[in-house]
Amino acid sequence: MIQRPTILLVAPTFYDVSYSINPWMDPQAWARDPRGMHRQATRAFAALRQALADAGFAVEVAAGAPGLPDMVFPANAAVVLDGKAVLARFRYAQRSGEEAPFAAIFEALRTRGWLDSVVQLPAGCFQEGAGDCIWDAARGHFWAGFGPRSSRAAADEMARHFAREVVALELATAHSYHLDVCFCPLAGGELLYYPPAFSADALQAIRARVPARLRIEATEDDLRHFSVNAVNLDDQVVMTRTTPHLRTELTRRGYRLHEVDLSPFMLSGGGAYCMTLRLDRTSVAPSARGAVAA
Ligand code: ARG
Repeated sequence: MIQRPTILLVAPTFYDVSYSINPWMDPQAWARDPRGMHRQATRAFAALRQALADAGFAVEVAAGAPGLPDMVFPANAAVVLDGKAVLARFRYAQRSGEEAPFAAIFEALRTRGWLDSVVQLPAGCFQEGAGDCIWDAARGHFWAGFGPRSSRAAADEMARHFAREVVALELATAHSYHLDVCFCPLAGGELLYYPPAFSADALQAIRARVPARLRIEATEDDLRHFSVNAVNLDDQVVMTRTTPHLRTELTRRGYRLHEVDLSPFMLSGGGAYCMTLRLDRTSVAPSARGAVAA
């Protein structure tokens, strides 16, 4: 498996916003100027790629496929840990066509020695990749979102495949349709999250595991800027152009922000994290990393 911090991106060649499967998606806004929008998306993608490199990542760019505009969000394609990729099963027909091309992409990564194994989930169990199953490096377990997209049962499947604890969190609103829209664990043990996105049980589970001093509550404005959807490596954070609130809060806690204008992708309901997939994550014990106890 690959050792250094490595991110998979998918080129935006075939990206557009032509359907709507979440409340942020705005095909009409895209249709007003598709060529201009596509040009902007290409520029935004290049800026994201550069910001990820500046933050210390190696970046691998896979090709997309015509008719599958949301392939540009590989966070939804698989969950990857310890060299194993568990392929996603999409809830909506608009995206399930991505399963075959993504399977080919992950097989190719395995052939190159970047992954050790690539496995499938049972049929009927929806699971939308790392967007709904987020590794918390400081605590050494997954958090799994369920409800709008992924099935509750997917959390148990992940626990079985990776032999790691998976804490299931019910998502209670259509706007936070994937966990990564409203939930971002950071390297220092902080959790950036948007409380109104969660069921009462989910909030209780979060607060039982993350002490108050490490909880950073995002505002509705932060959510609308897709700022919770951030990519973190040590003290580096790559995110969409953020709000004064989060800029101050994260900087105060010692993080260095790389802000990128990703508005053409926010029109599809995505930010920086959605557009990436970490390929090198390992389940190394939190104590080995000097993580913060809850
Ligand atoms: N249009 C895409 C969808 O609704 C956006 C996916 C964004 N990805 C994410 N991990 N939140 O599926």
